[in-house]
Amino acid sequence: MKPFIVFENVDFKYRRSNNIFQSLVLAINSEETTAITGNNGSGKTTLSKLAAGMLHPQKGRVVVDGEDIKEMSLGELGTKLGYVFQAVERQLFGMTVLDELTFVNRLKGIEESETYAKANKLLEAFELTDLRDRHPSTLSYGEKRRLAIAAALMSDISFLILDEPTSFLDPDRIESLSSTLDSLKANGVGMLIISHDEDFVARHADRIIRIEDGGIVDDHRH
Ligand SMILES: Nc1ncnc2c1ncn2[C@@H]1O[C@H](COP(=O)(O)OP(=O)(O)O)[C@@H](O)[C@H]1O
Ligand SMILES: [Mg+2]
Repeated sequence: MKPFIVFENVDFKYRRSNNIFQSLVLAINSEETTAITGNNGSGKTTLSKLAAGMLHPQKGRVVVDGEDIKEMSLGELGTKLGYVFQAVERQLFGMTVLDELTFVNRLKGIEESETYAKANKLLEAFELTDLRDRHPSTLSYGEKRRLAIAAALMSDISFLILDEPTSFLDPDRIESLSSTLDSLKANGVGMLIISHDEDFVARHADRIIRIEDGGIVDDHRH
């Protein structure tokens, strides 16, 4: 199996915190689903933000797809992996659902017919077609999360990081998110799922890593 996100002796602390990670060593593989579990405050979100280049270690390196992410722009990293926030509304900036899917590609100057063809496919796949003209802020949590995943997939990413994807979702919506993730997996998309939802983790994870106080206390295949 190919390592995709590698933490090499990573030390991390926030400006006003104790060490969150000390000499963290961890390799997360592509083409499988890895879950990170652990209590509140154990460092799960911090770990995922280090992987997504939103935070940088004080010591050590985070390597994505063979390259130190310090050497990559966020735009470049965004072509390799997608990130869906726990507070998903904070990452939706479009004026409409369709705009949310297309504005980055339009900014990049990618040909519009190509962009809209892709957006329409994703609207369909994520059951968002009827919502295409709605302002993202008017969507339910489940719809927002589907939209954020669809938006990440507008780039041809092969890896998706999801922070607490089931929070604020009722069981029906968890089920629909689950089938979305199943089909991504069937298409070879690797995932890192941060979650304390044991049923959800059991359903999706090939590998389960538990962290406590910034250290890995369990790492097993499922
Ligand atoms: N911006 C911040 N500044 C200082 N401390 C922080 C900040 N964000 C998180 N922390 C602290 O880092 C630790 C890990 O937090 P976090 O990664 O959010 O944990 P989890 O996602 O597992 O609940 C906690 O003790 C938290 O209080
Ligand atoms: Mg968290």
